[in-house]
Amino acid sequence: MHTEPTTFSAEQYFATQPPPPTLQHDVEKVREFLQRQKSEGRAVVLVTSGGTTVPLELNVVRFLDNFSAGTRGATSAEYFLKAGYAVIFMHRQFSLQPFSRHYSHSTNPFLDFLDIEPPQPEDAEPTPRISVTPNKREDLLQVLTAYKTVHAQGTLHTLTFVTVNDYLWLLRAVSQEMAVLSRKAMFYLAAAVSDFFLPRQKMSEHKIQSGKGSLHIEMDQVPKILKPLVSEWTPGGYIVSFKLETDPQLLIPKARQALERYGHQVVIGNDLHRRKYEVVFVSKKPLPALPPGAVDGVNSRTEESEGQQESGNSADGGKQEELADSFTETWLRIDASETVATPGFPVKEIEEDIVAELVKRHGDWIGDSQSTTSQ
Ligand code: PMT
Repeated sequence: MHTEPTTFSAEQYFATQPPPPTLQHDVEKVREFLQRQKSEGRAVVLVTSGGTTVPLELNVVRFLDNFSAGTRGATSAEYFLKAGYAVIFMHRQFSLQPFSRHYSHSTNPFLDFLDIEPPQPEDAEPTPRISVTPNKREDLLQVLTAYKTVHAQGTLHTLTFVTVNDYLWLLRAVSQEMAVLSRKAMFYLAAAVSDFFLPRQKMSEHKIQSGKGSLHIEMDQVPKILKPLVSEWTPGGYIVSFKLETDPQLLIPKARQALERYGHQVVIGNDLHRRKYEVVFVSKKPLPALPPGAVDGVNSRTEESEGQQESGNSADGGKQEELADSFTETWLRIDASETVATPGFPVKEIEEDIVAELVKRHGDWIGDSQSTTSQ
């Protein structure tokens, strides 16, 4: 019989679940990376990417997993690097990574791009050479050039997690380190993190035996980590979380609920089946310094609608409360046909537009704080 609580606060979680053995080493490397980026005046974004596993045994044979391949995170990381950010890419081991992602899908395997050329009479060694298939050279050259540039500049730092426990410990440690950057730190939380887990104290030590018939497992809820992230670990950081739903009706209400609950800057809502060509940015509308009754106008370069919280008060007397509780929703859409590789046409990736919009918003936000402090 187990007596552990079924709802862990973040504090209780870290007090009872052990850190991954590599945590200290990872944190030291992150600290060095951040110091260098800070001294070079760069903004840094932590990109989380891929799904977390939930082991069912201490000597783990079985685990729960989810669908995330890390496409959103790996693709976005490339666009952030292109925009001049330094990137900490915290990803699920063996999920997609920036640059190599172009050649690691089974639909685009890099071995298919390589040719073997027989040794030539003038070669000193009679060894075959490897070359790139001519019609793939241009694409590969572009990716390779970007990859080499990033490595020469030292602007990409990679961290890996596997389990939800690895993820939570790493996220806390890295975000605490990133606090030194204040507003120049951005958090782009694209990982698909498990909502349920088995605490260590409830796990079977050895492989669960199948002879006992059906398997019943009661899992505990993973603590809501966005709350301490926003309010304690990294005050000043610009925080972008994601919300994935399969029922499109839930996307906006859930995104608003997250903003209300955690008080961060942006939730990007995405529907499972439309996520490659449509997302919605949901933010709280800043409180306008307007006289009572004046009409507010928040505009964006893209299609935008505004909504009030479901419980919002629309009566005249509640005008200020209504404004405080209102949100902006900015849809980014690309043509679904452009996301499919077609000979002669470049593939369009929605992450390019997501990152461009965030870079702009983050820049405004850094600028806002500078104009406030210099007044
Ligand atoms: O990797 P792909 O195949 O490209 O898919 C990308 C994606 C669909 C997974 C991604 O775009 C996405 O939506 N990720 C978030 C999925 C989600 O709905 O997460 P959530 O509702 O469980 O969590 C909300 C936010 O808090 C997320 O930003 C999550 O990364 C973060 N979170 C959640 C729980 C937790 N304990 N810690 C967290 O940081």
